[in-house]
This record gives sequence, C-alpha cells and structure tokens, in this order.
Amino acid sequence: MKKSALLLSAFIAAGLLFLCCKSADTPIPDEDGHRLWLRYAPAGKLADQYRNAIQRIVVTGDSDTSRIIGRELASAMDTMLGSPGSVDTAWQKKPALIVGTPSTSDLIHNLNWDAELAEAGPEGFIIRSTSIENHPVTVIASSGEIGALYGTFHFLRLLQTGQPIRDLSVTERPRVQFRLLNHWDNLDGSIERGYAGRSLWQWGELPGKRDPRYTDYARVNASVGINGAVINNVNADVRILTEEYLLKVAALADLWRPYGLRVYLSAKFSAPVQLGGLQTADPLEPEVADWWKAKAAEIYRLIPDFGGFLVKANSEGQPGPKDYGRTHAEGANMLADALAPHGGIVMWRAFVYDQDVDPDRVKRAYIEFTKLDGRFRRNAVVQVKNGPIDFQPREPFHPLFGGMKQTPVFAELQATQEYLGQAKHLVYHGTMWKEFLDSDTYAKGAGSTVGGVLDGTVYPYPVTGIVSVANPGTDTNWCGHHFSQANWYAFGRLAWNHRLSAGQIAEEWARMTFTNDDGTVDAIRDMMLSSWETFVSYTMPLGLHHLIGTDHYAPMPENDRARRSDWTAFYYHRAAADGIGVDRTRKGNKAVEQYFPPVCDRFDSLETCPEKFLLWFHRCAWNYRMKSGLTLWQELCGKYYAGAEQAADLQAKWQSLAGIIDPRRHKEVADRLEIQVEDAVKWRDHILKYFQQYSQMPIEPPKQAITYGHRRLYANRYKTRAGI
Ligand code: GCU
Repeated sequence: MKKSALLLSAFIAAGLLFLCCKSADTPIPDEDGHRLWLRYAPAGKLADQYRNAIQRIVVTGDSDTSRIIGRELASAMDTMLGSPGSVDTAWQKKPALIVGTPSTSDLIHNLNWDAELAEAGPEGFIIRSTSIENHPVTVIASSGEIGALYGTFHFLRLLQTGQPIRDLSVTERPRVQFRLLNHWDNLDGSIERGYAGRSLWQWGELPGKRDPRYTDYARVNASVGINGAVINNVNADVRILTEEYLLKVAALADLWRPYGLRVYLSAKFSAPVQLGGLQTADPLEPEVADWWKAKAAEIYRLIPDFGGFLVKANSEGQPGPKDYGRTHAEGANMLADALAPHGGIVMWRAFVYDQDVDPDRVKRAYIEFTKLDGRFRRNAVVQVKNGPIDFQPREPFHPLFGGMKQTPVFAELQATQEYLGQAKHLVYHGTMWKEFLDSDTYAKGAGSTVGGVLDGTVYPYPVTGIVSVANPGTDTNWCGHHFSQANWYAFGRLAWNHRLSAGQIAEEWARMTFTNDDGTVDAIRDMMLSSWETFVSYTMPLGLHHLIGTDHYAPMPENDRARRSDWTAFYYHRAAADGIGVDRTRKGNKAVEQYFPPVCDRFDSLETCPEKFLLWFHRCAWNYRMKSGLTLWQELCGKYYAGAEQAADLQAKWQSLAGIIDPRRHKEVADRLEIQVEDAVKWRDHILKYFQQYSQMPIEPPKQAITYGHRRLYANRYKTRAGI
C-alpha cells in the first residue's frame, strides 16, 4: 500500500475512534417520562427506508380528527426522521403516506377497499404498501376517522419499534367494543387507590380553563385504542350529576371527542333522593325511573355521545336496589331504560359480597348474579373483577366469566397497583392479565377462554368490553413509577387484542419508552416478564391472598380484627397448628363447584390443582408433600426466599443498564427498586415469622439462595460507582 493511502486509512481510523469515544462520552439527556411511549426518538437503522417511503404525508379531510392525525405525523416525522414532515392534502405523485377514509380521500376511495374496510369497522384499519399510478405509497385507511387515527398510531409504533415498512399488509380491528379506563377520582382532587399524584381533572377550573393535559391524556389513550373513560370514583359523589358538574364534564367530552374517547360517569344510586328531593330511590317507583330518564336526557343534551353509567351498588356501604328489596337486575334495568333511547349503556359492578349470601366472600357475587342471568336489558352489562376477591396479586379467574350465559360481562382489571406494590414496586401486569385472559372456563367445552367470553365468541353477547382501573395522575411521569406506564399501555393493547402476548407488548413498550437497542430491550423485557411472579413469590405465593392491612401495601397476616371479618387477613389464610388455607373443595365449602367441569375437578383435587392456587382451594397441613417433594412449609420458605432474591435480581439487572438509560429515569427507577428489594425482605421475614408460630418448623432458606447481604453489598457498590 502506498504511503499516502496508509496515512489516509490511519487518519480515517483515528477519526472513527474519536467519534466513538465522543459518542460514548456524550451524556444521555435526562428524560422525565412525561412523553410516555410517544417519545418519537430518532429512527435508527431504517431511517433511510422510512424517509424514502414517506416523502410526503397526505392527510385529507377537514375535521378535528384529521388535523390531529396530520399534527401527530408531522411532529413524529420531525423528531424521528429529522425531516420537516409537512402535511399536505395533495399527493403530487411521490412516494407518500396517505391517510384517511374513502369519504375524505379520493385516493383511498379509488383503491376500492370498501368491502374490506367495512369488515374492519370504523375503529379498524388497513395499512398497506401499494402503488397508485405506479408510484409506491403507504396507505392507512379506515371506514371511520377514529380508525384512521388508530391506524396512524399503529404505523408510528412500527416506526418507533424499528420495523420495516416496505411490504406492509396490516388489517386490524378491536376484539371488544368497549375499552375503558375507570378513574377512581374524587371531586376534591384525591384519587382512591391512586399513587401518582392528584386527579388530572381540575374541577375548580373547568369548564372555562382547559388544562393541556386533557388532550394529552386523550391522545395517549387513542395511541392504544382506549375509547372511553369513566372519570369519577365508583364510590360516587352525587354532585357529578348536577348541572354545575355536567357542564365541566361536557367540556372534557368536547376535547376528547376527536380522539374517539367517550365520557362515562359513575352514578350514585341514591341520586333521586339526594338531588331530586324524592323520598325513595326504589327502582320500581315510576317517579324514580322518571327522574333518571330526565337526568339522562339532560346529560345527552350537553354530551350527545355520552357513554353511560357505571354503578357500584349495595357494595361496601353504597346504596342500591337491595335497600328497597329489589334485585341488582331491577336496579340496572331502570338505569338502562333511561339510557337506551340515547344509545348509552349501564355497567353494573359485580363487586358485591353481602355477608348474608354465603359465609365465604369468594362465592357471593357468583351466587347473586347467576340467579339474575338473562334478566338484564340488552344495554346493561355486568362488570366483573378478574378474580373473585379483589385484585389480589394472584387469583383464579372469577367464575362469572363463563357463568353468565345470557348477560354480557365486562372484565374489570386494575392498572393502578393497589395490592401489587402501588407505585413503588416494579410489577408488569401484562403477564397477570394474560394468565387471566387465557384461562379456559370450559363454559362451552375446551377453548372457551376468558378472552373468548369477553369478545363474544363463547356466547353471542350484544355488547363486549374490558376496562381497567386507571393509574395516571398529575405526577410528571403520569403513573408514579416509570414502569407503571407499561400497565396503562398493556391494558390498552390487550383490550384491543387479548391474544397479543405479554412479551410482545413488553417489548413494544420498552422500545418506545426507552431504546431500540436490542440488548437493552431484552433486559427490560425480561425484567418485566419475571416481575409479577417475583412479586407473588415474596408476598402471597401458593394461592395465599389478602395478607395485608388497610393500606393494602405492607404485610399484615396478623390482621384479625376489622369491622367485617372479611376485611381481616385471618379470614383468608386461617393459619393454625393443623395447617393453612381455606377448604373450598367439594368436601369443604364447595366454591369449586362454581366452575365448569373439568375446571372444578382440577381445582378440587390435590393431585391436579395447580400449586399456584393450592391454598386458595385447599387447606393443607404444614408438612403436606408438594410436587417438588418438599413439605408445604419448606416450599413456602423457598418461595419467599426466591421472591426476595428475584427482586434483588431485578435491581441488579436495572443497575447493569446505568449509562444506557438516561440518568434521571434510571435513578428514579433505581430508587424505587431499592425500596422494593427492602420491602421484599420485609414481606418474607414478616410472613414467615408469623406463620412459623403455627408451623413450629425452622425457617429454611433454599440451599441455592444467595443471601440478601451479598445483594445489598452489590447495590451499595453500584451506588458509589454511579455517584448516587
Ligand atoms: C377495593 C378498594 C376500594 C374500592 C373497591 C371497589 O376494595 O380497596 O378502594 O372502592 O375495591 O372496587 O369498589
């Protein structure tokens, strides 16, 4: 090689080295998490492919929704591709992204996709690489504008997660109709079971002042296909139904309409008495029904697309039809009749556990509601929590899924982590929700999954839906813990399509929220996927549940006194010298019989009952032999120790990402993991010590356990290194 060539290559190598060192040294800018999964970070490897394909953005239509689509695409292209991303209504025969509906876009109309678009429905969409007059184009089309908006977010997700867009052929439609958040927000700005600041709704300022967060919120929901929000607590304040508040609610509805987000309200059953001055709220009294009809008409005058009412009745002190000797169906139907002329629905909660129904809380809702199956109006649905108790770390699916053959049921999930570490512990709910959605009810033979019940394939429900108690508040990052954002995201994605995998959803979220670096994504996804089982292990493994006090956070198995026995912990674990757990088998209180065969048989038999539900369905001696060959006591010790270890593993994994994740978010998550690791040890020691007084056996950490002391040392070393 000539001397000059050698010199040149040395020069290039030095330059490259300089660039590498420089980029390694360039600090990663802090992020506060406010942009959630809609950060639109610069595109990586495929940026040129994207730029070539999207030389123009063509959005036709003259509506607020089409303007939102245009703005979203323009700002995304700007930051992802560094191109001005101007939006036009004219195509000009360039490789372009064309978005719209057949009625707003001639280009789309001329593609003749009408039959397919009709099939996908107004919220569904097609994204396809095709050509118009021999020019390559990418088309996002829907028969409805909201479908075009959802398609836009889907397309942007492909870009954000680094997918190729050359040969796209995507058809999507939501599997269930109603995909709602339930806010447990009070009118004083507090949030029941909220862990991320105050309520987003500034009631003192509405309707005049409109906080920009209202539209941010609607946009975020639209990005995952959430199409409604019940904005006030199920423990409802009746004032929400006054004209003063309805005007405020209407202002939110106006802002949210172009995003496809409809407003719903929690209604207090006694409102006719409290607001209407009637003597009674008896649903069979004509004056009561008339009051609700007039109230519904008033609401629809202000909010023409109002979604309907959510009702918590005769539950935890709330008023309801049973106060007048009427049934839940009679109460729900009266409200359904008031809403029906306007197209609204009633979501009647099955979270009821009156003590006179059955001694076991687990059985009560099923007994009450199956008796009423078939007696609800077509626009009334029964909203059922995923498990029979109350959002415990792990519960078997509620037997009302499959049990209600003629009455539609909605699933109520909970993104806010009431019993799952609140906003302090990293617990990804995607895996928990998938276990629930994929559970086979056998209602109509094998394959009758909970998901299938919910989407109307098991029974032909006229209305289908999945809702989640919401987790955002006024915290800068919306959800308190950065990883709690993933639960909002996962809820939306699973409500859209319950067949998606928890892993895919975790990966999408990690790519959009943090980085597209494959190694980092793997690490984050692994953390997320193991986090739920980890939490269960260090809090309530092997079917244990409700081992808490009223804060629903810290361990309190000794809690044996409360206003109601079913608010204690003892009611659920019954630990004594002879063993632990509740006998819900056929020989016990027969709760298993609420499930279809063979599920009931599987839960009934010690041979076949999954050990993850063992103490839910069975009472076992402390020396009962587990499948592992260990005694129940040893297995319990093993679970608690393993859980605490796994929490420390989460921490170690996150520590390994220091310098890859921006420092602010990294530290904020690390700080919470520190709490989580300490809490996990507290849970382990507290619970085992408490149960030991009954088991009278030594607390035996499993042999392979690395002691927590080592982990702590590691954590401290890391902290010194990272300067925190
Ligand atoms: C749980 C929760 C309450 C809530 C109730 C409900 O018990 O702790 O705060 O009101 O569920 O779902 O109605």
